[in-house]
Amino acid sequence: MIAPSILSADFARLAEEAAAVARGEGRPGSDWLHVDVMDGHFVPNLTLGLPVVRSLLAATDIPLDCHLMIEDPDRWAVGYAEAGAHNVTVHVEAAADPVRLAKDIRAAGARAGLSIKPGTPLEPYLDVLRHYDTLLVMSVEPGFGGQSFIPDVLDKVRTARRLVDTGHLKLLVEIDGGINADTIAAAAEAGVDCFVAGSAVYDADDPGRAVERLRQAALA
Ligand code: DX5
Ligand code: ZN
Repeated sequence: MIAPSILSADFARLAEEAAAVARGEGRPGSDWLHVDVMDGHFVPNLTLGLPVVRSLLAATDIPLDCHLMIEDPDRWAVGYAEAGAHNVTVHVEAAADPVRLAKDIRAAGARAGLSIKPGTPLEPYLDVLRHYDTLLVMSVEPGFGGQSFIPDVLDKVRTARRLVDTGHLKLLVEIDGGINADTIAAAAEAGVDCFVAGSAVYDADDPGRAVERLRQAALA
């Protein structure tokens, strides 16, 4: 699955930027649209919040994959689920009660995602992850698009893949940061199910074609 990140899109033209990666003209289009919510506290950058997500939900049929890089997700995440986001992903470093939060997100109608920063180990959270539908492995420090892929995080992807394949966990493994035509194959080989790509899609002349090129490169 491919999830273009609108962080690298033109924020004044979000509806058109979503349409540019949607299904059409013989191409399957994006599986999800990744929306980076940053609060200027959990990460040193500020982007958008629930009002913009609501407008996007009305503007596109692509399921929204909301990645909350915010403090106190226990307070804010459910609002995104109630609004109609497909996935609501919170950071394990920020959540006070991640098990409770997963239940609340699911009860509000979304799938629950748990994200871990590059330096955060996976092992302490294996029990917590039994309550989640996706694991979002960060392959850059969260906060900005266009950074270089950190290959060391693929060990966590391999561990998660093994736990899913042996039935110990039931979730999708997603990766976010530095994914492009050169890095996607290694991530695919390590066992990623869903690839977030911001600059590799929206810095391209034709974002729709860039999505299909990434899909090909992942399969190669
Ligand atoms: C970074 C965000 C990413 C970002 C990825 O903190 O979570 O989703 O958009 O951008 P690229 O693909 O350019 O690394
Ligand atoms: Zn993201």
